[in-house]
Parts: sequence; structure tokens; C-alpha cells
Amino acid sequence: MKAKIVSTGSYLPEKILTNKDLEKMVDTNDEWITQRTGIKIRHIAQDGEVTSDLAYKAALDALNSANVSPEEIDVIIVATVTPDQLLPATALFVQEKLGAKNAFGFDINAACSGFMYALSVADAYIRSNMAKKILVIGAEILSRITDYQDRSTCVIFADGAACVLVEATENDDEGILGLRLRSDGHYTDLMEVPSPGSHKPCSKEAIENRDIYIKMKGNETFKMSIRSILEVSEDVLNSLDLSFKDIDLMVSHQANRRIIEGVAKRAKLPEEKTIITIDKHANTAAASIPLALDWANKNGKIKKGDLILLNSFGASLTWSAGVIRW
Ligand code: UT7
Repeated sequence: MKAKIVSTGSYLPEKILTNKDLEKMVDTNDEWITQRTGIKIRHIAQDGEVTSDLAYKAALDALNSANVSPEEIDVIIVATVTPDQLLPATALFVQEKLGAKNAFGFDINAACSGFMYALSVADAYIRSNMAKKILVIGAEILSRITDYQDRSTCVIFADGAACVLVEATENDDEGILGLRLRSDGHYTDLMEVPSPGSHKPCSKEAIENRDIYIKMKGNETFKMSIRSILEVSEDVLNSLDLSFKDIDLMVSHQANRRIIEGVAKRAKLPEEKTIITIDKHANTAAASIPLALDWANKNGKIKKGDLILLNSFGASLTWSAGVIRW
């Protein structure tokens, strides 16, 4: 028994924040943002809109595409670093909104690798016959933990959600062929949101220190990204007796256009084999890979039988890669 992605779905909030808009908020400019990151616009949630709202709409899109009803779902996994609340899990709010009364749900926090970690759980549940239909959702409202006084981070992060429906298949020629997950707790200070948590509970001081927002050592993170993504991608490909030249499409976490191009160049993957959505989605952490996958799917970039390499890199540090036969 293998796990297979049978449909994709997404939801992006209507409000758009452009590079020009950001020029009025911090000392930055469209040219710097475009050249250094590849980002042109980003979607931002409305006041009152919560992560489970985005996740619910993305899940509904994936369910409708596959003509599957919410009652058929066994598990809902939400990967997010911006849950509706610390408790209960965002997946439970999604379950209620969907009316997925036969499912159980939980959240996963692995930052920008969250979707891949969630996919690995779905893969394991399917292989062990614990579940047959699983919604794997990446959903973020990063604008709520972004410091719009810090130009080094506020130009990068954005909001959005995407979902894949994972089902069991007995066909050996399709589905998730392999996954590799990595983390290194030595680098937890490269990217963090210190509060609220048991270390720094919500307090006036935490707010004044801006500890409730993302703090990132961007350049140090960047320097580790390309080689880490290459290492883990090579490892999963080698384990399947494959190499980069066998890949039809690489769908990467969209952190920085230069990172994706750097990986593609070293892997000798031509531009048409990479998916770039950072220009229109910016960095949506756990939502980024499924958003890129959904965009590729809906825009005719994927055909049946394609070999797809997924890979991620993020806080702090987590990184991963997976190979899928579509
Ligand atoms: O999502 C997963 C985890 N995150 C990542 O993978 C992010 C990886 N890092 C990056 O994508 C890049 O490091 C950034 C886009 C965050 C920054 O780009 P960079 O080329 O590494 O810039 P830098 O931090 O080395 O800064 C270069 C210069 C600095 O000015 P000085 O010291 O040379 O005068 C910054 O102050 O650019 C300045 N700068 C800006 N200038 C205009 C930083 N942010 C901005 C800005 N607008 N928004």
C-alpha cells in the first residue's frame, strides 16, 4: 500500500500588499525586494480572518476537485506556525468548519518544512493502514507575527493556505516514493518567535521587545539553505536509484528566488523544471510548497506519470525532500 496525492486545493486572501505599498511602511524599495528575493506581491488576511478559515477554504477546494465529501476524511493534519490559538489545534477548527465528523485532527509545527513533515505522517498512516483518506494542509497567517517595522523580514512573509488530499493506492507506479526529513536544534536562534511560550510568556515586556514577531538572521540562513536542500534531495533520490536528471519538476519551498535558482543550477535542472511562485505568493512557510504544487497542477505544469521532487528549508533548522510519481 502506498500514499498518493489525488487532488490539490488552495486559498489566498483577497488583500494584496505590493512592494510599492511596503516602500511607504519601511525603508525599502521594489528594486531591492525584486532582486534580492524575487517577490512582487503578497496576500494578506483581512482583520478577523483566521488560519482555519484559510485552511478550510483550501481543503474544500481539494475535496471538490476529487469529488470527495468531508465525511469520508479519516485524518486532518494542519502544518502551521500561526495557529488560530495555542489550544486547541487549528485542525479541529477546520474539522468543525468542514463537518468532517469521522476524522481526527492535529497540528504540526516544523516551520517551512511543516507541509513535508505532515505529508510524511500521512504517508506513514496510509502505509500502516491506519487511514485511507487524509487532508494535509499547510496554512499560515504570517502577517500576524511579522514586524512591519523590520525591513529585513516584513518584505518576505505572507499569508495563504493549500491542501492535498492523500489516499491509499495499490498501484506501485504512482504516489509518494520516498521522503527524508532533517532538523538541527543547534541553530534554533537563526529564526524564531520567542513569545508567547513557556520560555517567554505573553507579557508587556515581550510586546515592547517585539518578541512576538519573527526574528531572522536572514543571511546566515540563506548561506546554509542551498547545500542543505541539495544534500537531502540527493539522499532521497539516491535511495530510489534516481538522480536529478530523472526529475520532471522540482517544487521547492518558496523562501527566496535565488535559493531555488541556486539549487536548480547546481542540480543542472533547466528553468522549466522548477516552479517559481514566490513572485505572487511570497514566503508562506508551511503553505508554500502545497501552494506551489497547486499552482503547478492548475496551470498544466504537471502531467500523469511525472516524477516530482519536493524540497524545503526553514526555521530553525528543518529541511526535507520527497519524490512523488504523479
Ligand atoms: O523561509 C525559510 C527560512 N528563511 C530563509 O530561507 C530566508 C533566507 N534569507 C534570505 O532570503 C535573504 O537573506 C534575505 C532576503 C532575508 C536578505 O537578503 P540578503 O541578500 O541576505 O541581505 P542582507 O541581510 O545581507 O542585507 C544586505 C543589505 C543590508 O544593508 P547594508 O548593511 O549592506 O548596508 C541590509 O540592511 O540589504 C539591507 N536590507 C534591505 N535593503 C532594502 C535588508 N533588508 C532590506 C530591504 N530593503 N527590505
